[in-house]
Amino acid sequence: MNITYYGHSAFGVEIKQKHLLFDPFISENPAAADIDSSQVPADYILLTHGHGDHLGDTVKISERTGAPVITNFEITTWLGNKGVEKSVPMNFGGSIDLGFCKIKMVLATHSSTLPDGSPAGNPCGFVVECEEGSFYYSGDTGLHYDMKLLGEFHSLDFAFLCMGDHFTMGVADSLIASNFINCSHVIGMHYDTMEQIKIDHEASKKLYKDAGKTLELMEIGSSLEI
Ligand code: NI
Ligand code: MN
Repeated sequence: MNITYYGHSAFGVEIKQKHLLFDPFISENPAAADIDSSQVPADYILLTHGHGDHLGDTVKISERTGAPVITNFEITTWLGNKGVEKSVPMNFGGSIDLGFCKIKMVLATHSSTLPDGSPAGNPCGFVVECEEGSFYYSGDTGLHYDMKLLGEFHSLDFAFLCMGDHFTMGVADSLIASNFINCSHVIGMHYDTMEQIKIDHEASKKLYKDAGKTLELMEIGSSLEI
């Protein structure tokens, strides 16, 4: 699996030459000014909730690539009115099989509205399972005890966890989350993009290291093979 970081919570995950693109907030993110969102590949876009720092370039990238948007029913309806032709409405606990991977929509404790104020249903996270490995993408969430279910019933090789604090879990809670999900390889997201969510990289990595775990804080634009 090849993972590319596009800033904030935007990641591309390549599995068997197919590209999953998560929460593609790119062109309006000053921290991701070096990323050209018109070049970002996508076969599927996975969107956790309606907030602008996640919805981002979803409509444009779906139009350009033809990638269906996998998100909840409420957001797919809204996207349909914005001209997005293909989308896959899901809801909590549901799974879909894309052939090269399986995707399950799971709980996130957060809020969700769309930029024009439309209701966006409930925010979510995703569990992705494929031959190469399995991972959890938390979306925006506080720490919650249902994460234990993910650790109990999925064998997670790594996880994307939000950790910027203020709007989501902070680093310390993300470490507890990694225990709940029974996973020792974490890729951080939703940090540093704005003043309120700046984190201390060295201290955060040390917290994980002292717990016998690995925290990756990827450079925007960099890739990682897992
Ligand atoms: Ni949010
Ligand atoms: Mn957010």
